[in-house]
Amino acid sequence: MSLLSLSQVSFAIQEHQILKDISFDVEEGEIIGLIGPNGSGKTTLFNVISGFLKKSTGSIFYKGGEISKFSPSQRARLGMGRVFQNFGIFKEMTLEENVLVALEALPKAERQELGDLNKIVSATLEMADLADFAKKKAGSLSGGQMRLLEIARTLESGKELFLLDEPTAGVSPKMTHQVAGIISKLKEQKKTVLIIEHDLPFIAKICDRVIVLDVGEVVLEGKPGEVQKSKKLQEIYFGADPTT
Ligand SMILES: Nc1ncnc2c1ncn2[C@@H]1O[C@H](COP(=O)(O)OP(=O)(O)O)[C@@H](O)[C@H]1O
Ligand SMILES: [Mg+2]
Repeated sequence: MSLLSLSQVSFAIQEHQILKDISFDVEEGEIIGLIGPNGSGKTTLFNVISGFLKKSTGSIFYKGGEISKFSPSQRARLGMGRVFQNFGIFKEMTLEENVLVALEALPKAERQELGDLNKIVSATLEMADLADFAKKKAGSLSGGQMRLLEIARTLESGKELFLLDEPTAGVSPKMTHQVAGIISKLKEQKKTVLIIEHDLPFIAKICDRVIVLDVGEVVLEGKPGEVQKSKKLQEIYFGADPTT
């Protein structure tokens, strides 16, 4: 059984069809890259999967159960994690306190399933390579380190499926490398990741499979190497080759 399965999922606002008949399966432990030009519907698809937007038609299954009617927090309780950027890092608090505050902000039912929060705080800082700074104020971190802390904070919150929307946007090449490191750690833990990224070499390095969206439709799917070489991908990003 697939961990996540979308069957002919569509989403429309008024007359405007934003997602059209999206179908794909995600197996447990897979790292999947979701790519496509700006405005192709990637973020909307994440919103539909995590429940912040209600699909118009189609079905969404998580661990075999239909979840379309579930609220975002019910989906989170089932193990879906969405990384929100800019949830806020409190600069006057230490790194430990920042992670703890985010965990304490989770709905009670989710928090109780986590067990010892202090253990999770340590694991989170470890994950972001920031354990040495645990007692330091977050204000002393670089912008990139803060981003890593934000990402890691969601990743250690007991989830199974992670939806990461452009985690490397605006971070330095060194930080991009660290984000890749975090994703490999998730893979080692057999977690499942759907990641939206513009950086194709990054996607090729970390993903098992790539799904390409264009104008709200899945137009290509395959191993990173195959997708990267595909003529279709060139067409989507750069227009049809005039010589053919
Ligand atoms: N709340 C909304 N109301 C109207 N149009 C929207 C809304 N959200 C997204 N769109 C439109 O849906 C399309 C897909 O957007 P989005 O999912 O943000 O694309 P991507 O993340 O791939 O850049 C765009 O044309 C965008 O303008
Ligand atoms: Mg987007």
